[in-house]
Amino acid sequence: MIELRDIGKVYHASDGSHRALNGVNLSINDGDIFGIIGESGAGKSTLVRLLNLLERPTEGRIVIDGDDITDYSGRQLRELRANIGMIFQNFSLFQQRTVLQNVMFPLEVRHEPKARSIERAHELLSVVSLDDKASRYPSELSGGQQQRVAIARALANQPRYMLCDEATSALDSRTTVQVLDLLAQINADLGVTMVVITHSLAVARRICNRLAVIDEGHIVEEGSTADVFANPQSKVARELLEWGFEGIDDAAARSSAEPSAREAQPQSDFPSEKQSAASQKSQHAEEGEVAHG
Ligand SMILES: Nc1ncnc2c1ncn2[C@@H]1O[C@H](COP(=O)(O)OP(=O)(O)OP(=O)(O)O)[C@@H](O)[C@H]1O
Ligand SMILES: [Mg+2]
Repeated sequence: MIELRDIGKVYHASDGSHRALNGVNLSINDGDIFGIIGESGAGKSTLVRLLNLLERPTEGRIVIDGDDITDYSGRQLRELRANIGMIFQNFSLFQQRTVLQNVMFPLEVRHEPKARSIERAHELLSVVSLDDKASRYPSELSGGQQQRVAIARALANQPRYMLCDEATSALDSRTTVQVLDLLAQINADLGVTMVVITHSLAVARRICNRLAVIDEGHIVEEGSTADVFANPQSKVARELLEWGFEGIDDAAARSSAEPSAREAQPQSDFPSEKQSAASQKSQHAEEGEVAHG
């Protein structure tokens, strides 16, 4: 479980200081697909970047399974980041590397034997249904395919958590549905807890079981997705609801006569082996930074 306790974040920018988060308390349970929604500038990316310490809080503590991680550095920080995959709106793939080499990167960083890395990268590409594109370069893929490569790379260290910051915002509706359903499948089959940052209620409704609504650095509402939709308490949530669903539901309806991702019971074709967090080898801290652009 991830707990944020009385988190505040102040940025010091060229034009003065700016408070991006204030008094944030949040618990994300294992197995959740936890949505954080809010308008542009609300503090969503700041919040999610605290979870792997790409940003440090100005106030408050971050606690994972009872361990206070707020001041982690060195080896502890590398192990933390290896345990938390992250994907972004702009995919952040290495353009000079093939698809296979992109997915191999985290394995190279932790000095896996090359043959094992290649084998594992192919397995991961199968998980995202892209093994046939292994030798292509990112520029030779569609946006949805690039995001699936990024997902495969994020899974390479068998993380417990995956942070998705507007991961589908650059994709069309149909592709968004495919990527969301893939994330939900990974959650169901591998037990990866997801934190999904989005400004889209349609995205939140499709895969999240819980939601927090953030406005100007404050959590203004939190609850099960069903409750937030049925009975929005905050002005922001009501406004987002009024804005509608940007066509994603239409795409979902067309792409599948099936139930939504959370209701479906996907067939598992994932590699079965799982590593405990403790046994995971550490990963080069730069990976997170590099992938982060
Ligand atoms: N490095 C920084 N230095 C100064 N201010 C920052 C920095 N990063 C973010 N901010 C400010 O903090 C606030 C929250 O930014 P954040 O990126 O978390 O918003 P967001 O909810 O992710 O928005 P968007 O939906 O547009 O991505 C904004 O007002 C932003 O200008
Ligand atoms: Mg953002």
